[in-house]
This record gives sequence, C-alpha cells and structure tokens, in this order.
Amino acid sequence: MKVLVVGSGGREHAIVWKLAQSTLVDKIYALPGNGGMKELAECVPISDMGGIIKFANNVDLVIVGPEILLAEGLINELPKNKGFGPTKEAATIESDKSYAKELIRKVGIPTADFNVFTTLESATTFIDRATYPIVIKASGLAAGKGVFIIKNISDAIEVLNKIMTERIFGDSGNRIIIEEYLGGEEVSVIAFTDGKDFIPLLPCQDHKKLLDKDKGPNTGGMGAYTPAVLTSAEVGKVIENIFAPCVWGIRKEGIVYKGVLYAGLIITSDGLKVLEFNCRFGDPETQPVIKLLESDLIEPILAVIEGNLKSVSLKWHPGYATCVVLASDGYPDKYEKGKEITGLEKVQEATVFHAGTKKEKDKIITSGGRVLGVTGIGKTLKDSIDITYNEVSKIHFDKMYYRKDIGSKNAKFQNPNVK
Ligand code: AMP
Ligand code: GLY
Repeated sequence: MKVLVVGSGGREHAIVWKLAQSTLVDKIYALPGNGGMKELAECVPISDMGGIIKFANNVDLVIVGPEILLAEGLINELPKNKGFGPTKEAATIESDKSYAKELIRKVGIPTADFNVFTTLESATTFIDRATYPIVIKASGLAAGKGVFIIKNISDAIEVLNKIMTERIFGDSGNRIIIEEYLGGEEVSVIAFTDGKDFIPLLPCQDHKKLLDKDKGPNTGGMGAYTPAVLTSAEVGKVIENIFAPCVWGIRKEGIVYKGVLYAGLIITSDGLKVLEFNCRFGDPETQPVIKLLESDLIEPILAVIEGNLKSVSLKWHPGYATCVVLASDGYPDKYEKGKEITGLEKVQEATVFHAGTKKEKDKIITSGGRVLGVTGIGKTLKDSIDITYNEVSKIHFDKMYYRKDIGSKNAKFQNPNVK
C-alpha cells in the first residue's frame, strides 16, 4: 500500500518511522516532510490544500498530522475512506475552543468554569471583578501559543489588548475564553476512535512551558514521556467518562468523529478535568508513544476508516520512553534558522525525530523553532530520561536550547502497568 503522511514535524517523522516498519506499506510519501525523513519517505515540497488533494491520487491512504489542515477540511475533500482524520466539522472540537467548552459543559464532562467573550468591553468588565489567577484563551487555533495564565489585572488587560485589539492571533482571537485556573499534574490521553469504539494509546505527559520547572510561556511542547501517571484502569475511566460523552455529544449534532482524539487532562484535588480536546496526534507526545508501540500502526488506522475498531487491540513494548525537544533559542517567538546540526551520527541509543530541519547536500540545517525530538527508551522512567539526555549531549547547533528537566519531577514514578 502507498501511504501519504501530510506534515513536517516530529510527530509526522515518528509516524513515517513507524509506517516504514509495516509489512503492509510499500511506499511512503511525506508532504512536505523534513530533512530527517528522506531515507524513509519520498518528501515532496507541497503543502497547499489543492496540491495535497491532487497528490493524493497517487496513494491509497492519507494520514493528516496538523490540525490546521483538518480544520480547513482536507478530509472532506479526499475520496471517501482515503483520509485518516476527522472532517472539518468534527475538527471543530479543536479549532473552536468555545464550541468545545460548551459541548464539554453540555455533556457533563468535568472542566474549568469558564465564560466566553466576543468584545473587549465585556471581557474587561469581567476581569475587573475576577479572582486571580485566571486563564485567558484565544478560541481559535494558535499553534499552542494562545493560552495565558494570568496572575493580576494589569497582565489581564495587556493580554486582552494583544488578542482583541492588536489581534496577534487574527480571527482566532475573535472570541476568547476566560476560565478558572486549575492546579495539578497534567496528562495527555490520545485514543483512536471510529465514532463508536475507542482504543487509547499510552498516557503521556507533555511539558508545555518553555523553561525548566514549568516556567515561562506556553509552547507547542518541549518534551514528553510515556506512560505517565494514569494506570490502565484509570485510562479506561477516561475513555468512559470523557471520550465517549464527547464523541457521542458530537454525534448528536449529526457529526461522526473518526480519527484520533486527544484530551489534555489535569488531575486536580476534585478529580480529573479536561483542559482541552485536540483532533489529532500530539506533538511531541506522538514521538515517545510511537516509540513504545509494538503493533503495526496501519491496522488501527485502517480500522478507524472502515469503522471496525472493535476488532483491533494494541501491543506495547515494556518500559518508558522520553522525548526531549531541541529548539532554536527564541522559540516560541523569533528565532534564527539555517544553522548546521552536528553530531547526529553519534546518536546510537535513541531515535532522533526531526521537526524544523532540512537537508542541504550532506548537511542537516535548522529550519524551524522546534528542531529535533530525541527519543530514548529505558526500563524505568529514570533510565529513559538518562539515556535520552546522554544522547542529546552528542548533538549540537548554534543557539540550541532544550529543557533539562523533562520527566524529572516524576522520575521515581512506577506505573503499575509497566512490565
Ligand atoms: P490548552 O491548549 O487549553 O490545553 O492549554 C495549554 C496549556 O495551558 C495546558 O497544557 C496547561 O498547562 C495550561 N492551561 C490551560 N488551561 C488551564 C487552566 N484552566 N488552568 C491551569 N492551566 C491551564
Ligand atoms: N503537545 C501538545 C499538543 O500537541 O497539542
């Protein structure tokens, strides 16, 4: 079978890496792909919707990575049963956070209390009377950068002005959500669903803040490890109490959700609550999760499309996996590109998933903010962290930045389900 993977990040490299091991896959294309995928996939420099739709005529299956293309309706435009991912309508669960929060409230999934605002005036009246901290979110897509944790009113005014007057997120800031701040351990659960049944992947913990000790601004994610603090039984409850009501709630609106659904969760003193839903695989979560996946990735993907997910089960390698993201200093704001990456050939104990890289002659050059995701496995979480950081130390590029504490807060944690 010929498979097309759409996207160019570490998530897509991990998907390509796993597909390359499948006996069912003869040829992989990546659009546009990146500098690290070239040995596994034919990378074609196409990233516009029209070009992707045309190119899809060459393949049997299209796996879509980025939310933006799902939100723009790429799946709707592909021939029936060729695309893996939710339709534009189903992807609204991520592309419009205010819709998602209303649905979450309607179907009774625990979440932070919230209000939605469409004018600066009404939001300003609200923040005048709020008890801090609060969280301000742009309702539309903002590449993981549209969420602000606010400690006082002057910061709130500044953020509201940025979103609603300066319009730093464009139309994505037309509506904003102001919600209650929740404290606790965060966990991401991602599950395959065909709209009826669910198969969860291993629970994972991302590190969204830029700096060590969870300081600094939110990013797309600076590193992740798996399995995180939920047991299989707890993940089962998450599927029952969070995923199923969400997907059935969407179905009541006449929309069948097919693909993967991602729940960003927080373990509060009042129990698990949902921070957000995403309509795709997480990045970097996918890198460590796929590294531990023993089963063929193509099977659940085809089962989702065919609507018979019930017939599939997944097997996992034992142990833990940790992914450390190497970024260009300045990310998530302005950063430099075009730096040569050295030392990649010395990495033996981990897999390096590329994100913002390109290949120029024999050199790998940086071309984005998140550049590489170094992903290692170990018997314990601590082993996987140590192995990964040891491999990280072999890689270099000018202005390379990475967090030094991925997984370390829970390094002694033992998930009872890990063999
Ligand atoms: P989201 O894109 O909505 O998941 O938000 C990105 C990140 O912001 C989350 O992973 C949390 O770290 C943080 N966050 C979002 N909402 C809240 C909240 N209500 N309370 C505390 N932190 C939050
Ligand atoms: N790592 C967070 C996300 O993929 O949304």
